[in-house]
Amino acid sequence: MNNRLVIAVDGPAGAGKSTIAKKIAKILNIEYIDTGAMYRALTLKILKSNIKVNDIKEILKLMESTSISFKENHIYLDEMKVDTEIRKNIINNNVSCIAKIKEVREKMVEMQRRLSESNNVIMDGRDIATVVLPNANYKFFITASVEERARRRYKELLEKDNKDITYEQVLDEIKIRDKIDSTREIAPLKVTADAYVVDTTNMTIDQCVDKIISIIEGR
Ligand code: CDP
Repeated sequence: MNNRLVIAVDGPAGAGKSTIAKKIAKILNIEYIDTGAMYRALTLKILKSNIKVNDIKEILKLMESTSISFKENHIYLDEMKVDTEIRKNIINNNVSCIAKIKEVREKMVEMQRRLSESNNVIMDGRDIATVVLPNANYKFFITASVEERARRRYKELLEKDNKDITYEQVLDEIKIRDKIDSTREIAPLKVTADAYVVDTTNMTIDQCVDKIISIIEGR
């Protein structure tokens, strides 16, 4: 690990991980890697190619000819910027089916380790502390009640593409995704013994950021 600063952030959907991780990256002047965006980009390509989310053979074939990369905090799928497209609800509702495929995870983990190899990084996802960066200097598990997470996601979706979705629908979708992510066979979402758990249900983003920064700075 040398003298690098490596921070792992995990947690369920809508807990605020990526907003918090992005802010911390800026404050500490380190690189931010959004691993969820990578699974989302692959899901986008699969859906666009009309491949069924359970057709593992076709998915693996497609993955061979897919490039996913980050440039200046934007994500590119086959050299096209896809930041907005990967946040659509159709991706929310399909990504966990893709992310539970063993071979997909192996390839993603390899890419994620490579991306973090020579930099100070903060990386967020579901298996960062458990699988991708088990030797991270700091591990945070960011969570919130499922109702609060659904409220946040609902608000986000209303601001974007989805005007006719209901809160109850979003709550159900988040519950389904939580279940798939935490019960899957490979790299399920779980808290490690050495992680700091931050429950953001009654906290603002800035309060969470302050708390994490104070832990890192040993205040
Ligand atoms: O933003 P949100 O919390 O909704 O999700 P995300 O972090 O963008 O991740 C989307 C999905 O990708 C998750 O629900 C997981 O199924 C999968 N994922 C994963 O399996 N492993 C990771 N390291 C990151 C995401």
